[in-house]
Amino acid sequence: MAAESGKKWVLTVTAQTPTNIAVIKYWGKRDEDLILPINDSISVTLDPDHLCTTTSVAVSPAFTHDRMWLNGKEVSLSGGRYQNCLRELRSRASDVEDEEKGIKITKKDWEKLHVHVVSYNNFPTAAGLASSAAGLACLVFSLAKLMNVKEDHSKLSAIARQGSGSACRSLYGGFVKWIMGKEENGSDSIAVQLADEKHWDDLVIIIAVVSSRQKETSSTSGMRDTVETSMLIKHRAKEVVPKRIIQMEEAIKNRDFPAFARLTCADSNQFHAVCLDTLPPIFYMNDTSHRQEPFFNSSFINVIVPHFYLPIISCVEKWNRHEETPQVAYTFDAGPNAVLISHNRKAAALLLQRLLFYFPPQSDTDLNSYVIGDKTILKDAG
Ligand code: ADP
Ligand code: DP6
Ligand code: CO
Repeated sequence: MAAESGKKWVLTVTAQTPTNIAVIKYWGKRDEDLILPINDSISVTLDPDHLCTTTSVAVSPAFTHDRMWLNGKEVSLSGGRYQNCLRELRSRASDVEDEEKGIKITKKDWEKLHVHVVSYNNFPTAAGLASSAAGLACLVFSLAKLMNVKEDHSKLSAIARQGSGSACRSLYGGFVKWIMGKEENGSDSIAVQLADEKHWDDLVIIIAVVSSRQKETSSTSGMRDTVETSMLIKHRAKEVVPKRIIQMEEAIKNRDFPAFARLTCADSNQFHAVCLDTLPPIFYMNDTSHRQEPFFNSSFINVIVPHFYLPIISCVEKWNRHEETPQVAYTFDAGPNAVLISHNRKAAALLLQRLLFYFPPQSDTDLNSYVIGDKTILKDAG
């Protein structure tokens, strides 16, 4: 190592990665170690200014172990998934040179050097808003930059997949498909972009944070139990999802909102039905705090929903039935928080009006601005 081990140098890289929300859900693995899914899935990547992970990675000869801090607390990097990502990246690392600092790291040096990772999610972690997707995608992306890994996004998506399945889709913006693949080694289980973020920019996504509490059943253990015990999951993976994937790709391509909304809501509902069909049953949508949650990030509306998810679903369903065509789609991941996708800004404004009417924020809520997409559309006097 030209930069001798005795020297106190640190090289850092910082990256930011948005989360993604599946409209056709991934739920169930055929290989737990490689994280290979039992069906394709499709997601929409959120605006990076809003729900995202920021990760800084650092390397120094002074570091004696790989270490990570998540949201200010040290967490272990010894888990198989983190180790798999680190191993994949280390084996692809290239020479790195920083003339100004007099640092030269060779490919071989990366086998011995240790990294420190500091990561922060600006939204609730492990609460069903896909923190593992943004978190692991960001970890892989920032380490790949630090280690000068010369792989394209598709290969990086296959590495991120080994950290958390949903993470492979966060390497791309817009609409993204995770192809389940056929190979045993997972080489063809990668994410591809179906359409970029400009393709359908009329859509407006609103997240109603019902609870930012950590869920009781992680996605990993929930889907393991489902695969082991549910009959419905077999029917879903083999018969339902393959057809829905084709229809969803078509709906996205044609910006066909009625078809998009129908498929999105149906898939969310079937995913939660499959959770109920698990032994013991998993209730992601009622794992809800009745307590008021603080408004976070001043970016998304935070709606307090006293009777958990059904009011939001029935509110949207009733409204859609009254209109000529659906105006809003809902989807819930493995948690109680609602992701509402409106047809356009007008529908989004009406949706906000309805949400605030049905679920008024409690008086001491720090709720003073509602941002839709990148524009503040409402601001109260306070
Ligand atoms: P979620 O619905 O939020 O994705 P999961 O149960 O799938 O919940 O995953 C949550 C786990 O993902 C966390 O307990 C943590 O291990 C991991 N995770 C979340 N955010 C990060 C991050 N920024 N960096 C590394 N790992 C993360
Ligand atoms: C409901 O990707 O969090 O959000 O691969 O075990 O880390 P692991 O699970 P994870 O599961 C996500 C499940 C989901 C649906 C989806 O994102 O497709
Ligand atoms: Co997750």
